[in-house]
Amino acid sequence: MPLNLERVALVGRTYNEYKRMFNITKEYLEGKKTLDVAAGVSNFCAIGNVMGLDITAVDPIYHLMADEIEVQAENDLELVMNQLPVNSSNYNWDFYGDIEGVRVSRVKAYQTFLKHYQAHPKKYVPGEIGKLPFKDKAFDTTLVSHLMFLYDHMFSAEDHIAMFRELIRVTKNEIMIFPTKNLSGENCKWVDLIIQNHEFLDHTFRLEKSHFEFQKGNYLRLRVTV
Ligand SMILES: C[S@@+](CC[C@H](N)C(=O)[O-])C[C@H]1O[C@@H](n2cnc3c(N)ncnc32)[C@H](O)[C@@H]1O
Repeated sequence: MPLNLERVALVGRTYNEYKRMFNITKEYLEGKKTLDVAAGVSNFCAIGNVMGLDITAVDPIYHLMADEIEVQAENDLELVMNQLPVNSSNYNWDFYGDIEGVRVSRVKAYQTFLKHYQAHPKKYVPGEIGKLPFKDKAFDTTLVSHLMFLYDHMFSAEDHIAMFRELIRVTKNEIMIFPTKNLSGENCKWVDLIIQNHEFLDHTFRLEKSHFEFQKGNYLRLRVTV
């Protein structure tokens, strides 16, 4: 059974999970300006900046105070965790070990984020993927984890085209999007729509295997050279 989510869930992955999803190292990120889009409780932004990397996060939730985000993160984690037991055969458990391991990882992610969010609010910019509040080509690398393609029952083909147009506008070198399947575990139809769209013919697209496969069969990331 797919996860049943009526709105985009505020659950966050760790820096380590980002490294695996996007196959990136500290060396790859060093000296680059990186944007984490739909970053949520971005452990990636928090840990990356502590490591000396230049990472900016953007998400609509950054209009909220830390304590409001904490309440929503706790509630959404419960919602997702309550559905995992009935769905556990849809997932690989080698990374997290078991359901409790997922909870521990997600709680660690948002707790680290909350501290950094309060101490360094300028790294967290409120904004939506369809209208990013940044200048043209402001970032070398842009990452999108667990929004585009995944929630294709909420965002239409036109929404995806508009989102991708914005990613191209703010990025100088490379865009990576993970995953490429939707919540039902089907290949999202909008992936090919973007790759084949005449508007984006100048860009190079690769579907690459990532080192992260929690939902079985959901391991491809879309990598775009701008
Ligand atoms: C499932 S979370 C993913 C968080 C993080 N990227 C990760 O992979 O751990 C999805 C995030 O998308 C954000 N979101 C929802 N609608 C959005 C929009 N229109 N533009 C940008 N972010 C959005 C939510 O606030 C939420 O933080």
